[in-house]
Amino acid sequence: MKHFLVIASSLVVLAACTTKSPMDKYIDNLMSQLTLEQKIGQLNLHSTPGFISAERVMEEDENAQLLHKGLLGGVYGGPNPQLLRQYQDIALQSGAGIPLIFGMDVIHGHQTVFPIPLGLSTSWNMELIEQTARAAAKEASACGINWVYSPMVDICRDARWGRIAEGGGEDPYLGGEIAKAMVYGYQGRDNDYATDEVMACVKHYALYGGAEAGRDYNSVFLSRQEALNGYMRPYQQAAYAGAGSYMSSFNEFEGIPATMNQWLMDDVLRKSWGFDGFIVSDATAIAEEIAHGIGDLQEVSARSLQAGLDMDMNSDGFVGTLLQSVKEGRVKEADIDRACRRILEAKYKLGLFEDPYRYFSEERYANEIYTPENLSFAREVARECQVLLKNEGVLPLRKGARVAVVGPLAQDAAAMAGTWSQSNHNAESITLWQGISEVTPATYAEGSWLLRDAAQEDGVRYGLIRMFAPGIPIPPVHTRPQAALVAEAVAKARQADVVVACVGEIAGMNGEGASRSDITLPDTQVEMLKALKATGKPLVIVLVTGRPLALTTVEPLADVLLNVWSPGSEGGHAVADVLFGDANPSAKLTTSFPRSVGQLPLYYNHKNTGRPHPDYEPYRKFTSCYTDELNGPLYPFGYGLSYTTFSYSEPTLSTTEMPLNGSVTASVTVTNTGSRDGDEIVQLYIHDIYATSTRPVKELKGFKRVHIAAGQSAQVEFTITADELSYYNHELDWVCEPGDFDIFICPDCQHGASARLKVI
Ligand code: BGC
Repeated sequence: MKHFLVIASSLVVLAACTTKSPMDKYIDNLMSQLTLEQKIGQLNLHSTPGFISAERVMEEDENAQLLHKGLLGGVYGGPNPQLLRQYQDIALQSGAGIPLIFGMDVIHGHQTVFPIPLGLSTSWNMELIEQTARAAAKEASACGINWVYSPMVDICRDARWGRIAEGGGEDPYLGGEIAKAMVYGYQGRDNDYATDEVMACVKHYALYGGAEAGRDYNSVFLSRQEALNGYMRPYQQAAYAGAGSYMSSFNEFEGIPATMNQWLMDDVLRKSWGFDGFIVSDATAIAEEIAHGIGDLQEVSARSLQAGLDMDMNSDGFVGTLLQSVKEGRVKEADIDRACRRILEAKYKLGLFEDPYRYFSEERYANEIYTPENLSFAREVARECQVLLKNEGVLPLRKGARVAVVGPLAQDAAAMAGTWSQSNHNAESITLWQGISEVTPATYAEGSWLLRDAAQEDGVRYGLIRMFAPGIPIPPVHTRPQAALVAEAVAKARQADVVVACVGEIAGMNGEGASRSDITLPDTQVEMLKALKATGKPLVIVLVTGRPLALTTVEPLADVLLNVWSPGSEGGHAVADVLFGDANPSAKLTTSFPRSVGQLPLYYNHKNTGRPHPDYEPYRKFTSCYTDELNGPLYPFGYGLSYTTFSYSEPTLSTTEMPLNGSVTASVTVTNTGSRDGDEIVQLYIHDIYATSTRPVKELKGFKRVHIAAGQSAQVEFTITADELSYYNHELDWVCEPGDFDIFICPDCQHGASARLKVI
């Protein structure tokens, strides 16, 4: 960490020597007019009531009451500009007249929905990902939103965790590139918020994806060194890209909840990485520190503030206890001033003091949301986010072939939109059935229950509605017997040339609060697939999912396995584009697909043990392996097929010895050996053979997406410097240690040759 500390302290010295910026002067002046209570009010964030009409806000809504007293700094969750405008009116007319900031969970698009973040990551296309965030920022800001709770950059190595769907997978380097792309997309690259740019909120800080056993909200047990090397690069890169805010996470780290963890928030994020924005808690995370066992609301609120947290989301801990804590001498007014200043700075940067209504434009609201252009972009994006895992010569399908479209996901529009989509248009998302039946003669059958257990199925389908909209009538599940559904699907399959089975997870089976202890395909769906296989018809399995599934029993049934994630508003069209060959699949996995749940956590960049065991060799006693399962994944990180094929030459290095301050060019020739033009995602990995601390067997350090015409070759080059070869050592210093490194350039983490580089 040392060199970051040096940079950070030089910045502080530099800042002290310069004159005050217009922003500082403005905020000094504003703060000098605020009472302590009003300052605390700025630290308070509430959700908007889900089901209140804008007309009733003035009389009944708790937020309006707080606003009248100047006790609210922002609200979130409201896709209703009329309501937000009313809140802004009240804020400006009461207390100190400070405008509100308006947040929302805009995660993978806003009204136009893109593939879930895990799906987006499989494009490995940073430009495309940046453009999705840009499009989301435009739509959100046209609805009055100026602050989005994204990017979610939590690294996850355990697919039981439902929120793996919301992030960029298991690799910190790739995650860092995605984090930057998304921050740039939301905020723009010039740090000067235009009216169609919004402030990013990087989450969940920190290490939330390390939840033990993949159970949501669970404790994280990692060393600082492993946290920094394996998990924290995406948060760091987002800070370097200028992210305006961060959200603290629900988990604890080193026995201290993240929301009151000074090492995470102050020492690392602010002092080492130079982040100068504000940190908001996750929803009710301050109050949850009571259940973590830290103290009562007054105690946890005081400790969170002192550790570096600035804004309280939905706990009413700051607004409810800080005044008292100041009176008792438990909290210094200076701590409140510091947090208040950071929030006012964010509002200043967003231009809200100049024009509190600058994000409300009726014209933009009417013309810029869910437009044909945005939908066509969503289709283009979703085409790039489908991973072809297996293809026994069946794809692409012939237009005109009779297709039986079967399975419980085939007509589920919400499953296309996926988790964390609050679009008013979710129900209009193009289903797989729609997409396929538009291009070829098709028949449909539901095929199976989603889950064997009716109560579980009801829970994942309707749990959210029961919680947030009690009273809404809920249809029963399992209205027809499973055997009848399967028989119908088999009958339809017999009449068809090919079967497309749409199976996997509905939106409620992944995302927040949706961890699974068994990540195989539910057995009702497998039962259907076995019956379909028995018909002898070619079986194309389209997997809709928010996590890597354990597909060991499914894989032998499939002629084709196409993993499409939750592909967004235009999902059905984009999947049909790939199935019928209008698009050539190019996506590659950003998470390892396990063979069985017992392998979890599973990730390619693991350490060797002292008794390593090859990934695909059977059990051998006294080596690091299982008696009943291979070590290797079913599908490795970086893997994905195309309708064409690529071959790689051996990698070469411009020099085999590199001084610490030098650089080397690593290159490879990639040839398209098939008969179709295609995109290939070329990956650079390193292995540090001996180091003062143990190092992973492989680490991704670069990637390039290249388009290569059939029969043509491309030379792909990467520049390697000490930075690519560095890591946080035991003392937490970022170091490149001289010695030998293997440099791989390859199609995925498991295949391909290497060259040896010596750092001197
Ligand atoms: C989630 C966050 C989200 C927040 C506000 C929390 O439950 O963990 O990701 O941004 O709610 O909706």
